[in-house]
Amino acid sequence: MYDQEIIQKTEGYAKSVLQGESSGHDWWHICRVRNLAVHIGREEKADLYVVELTALLHDIADYKFHNGDESIGPKTARAWLEKQKAGEELILHVCEIIKDISFKGAKVETPMRTLEGKVVQDADRLDAIGAIGISRVFAYAGAKGNEIHNPDIPFKINSSFEQYKQKSTAINHFHEKLLLLKDRMNTETAKKIAEKRHKIIEEYLKHFLLEWDGIDY
Ligand code: ADP
Ligand code: NI
Repeated sequence: MYDQEIIQKTEGYAKSVLQGESSGHDWWHICRVRNLAVHIGREEKADLYVVELTALLHDIADYKFHNGDESIGPKTARAWLEKQKAGEELILHVCEIIKDISFKGAKVETPMRTLEGKVVQDADRLDAIGAIGISRVFAYAGAKGNEIHNPDIPFKINSSFEQYKQKSTAINHFHEKLLLLKDRMNTETAKKIAEKRHKIIEEYLKHFLLEWDGIDY
């Protein structure tokens, strides 16, 4: 059952933790993912309470900012939900989605068991492509001390999560992840949105490389 009070408190919690974060995993990323997830969830007839709550908590503690600790996200979400006296079934569902949500490499499958998980994963991935996606890649690269582009470093099609987690340039991240996302959307609603956003990043990359080679004049 939809609990407005828990949603409101969780919104305040996510905002207090992620406000002002500068790698593209800030409060406004959470807001956009929540709005997209609710939109997709409504179209796909998912449980909107699980969808909204998970969208709010999905980046509350990311392995990328906690020495690669993959258990930190579900653990932090569980501690918060237990404090709110949420039911165990709901906690298990939200934490399972958070555990499974991340992209882990071109050749690594990241299946989602439930419709709500598919919806939140799609919304999170849509925010990684399109105009906003472009800005987030460079924000992340800057925050991590990675280069914008280095043609001496070839991009890899990663076949393990360990390989994917290694340092990369912003432009290589497009090839290692972002250009692959449109074909990894779970829902029909997200597939349509992804088509549009995919074209934007393709066009952007084309111009980036033309300018890089000095032939775009
Ligand atoms: P996921 O859970 O799939 O990692 P997030 O919501 O945490 O998704 O956001 C991931 C976003 O962080 C990417 O889409 C990109 O914008 C940025 N990012 C992650 N890794 C890199 C990288 N190596 N280089 C540049 N940007 C990155
Ligand atoms: Ni996210």
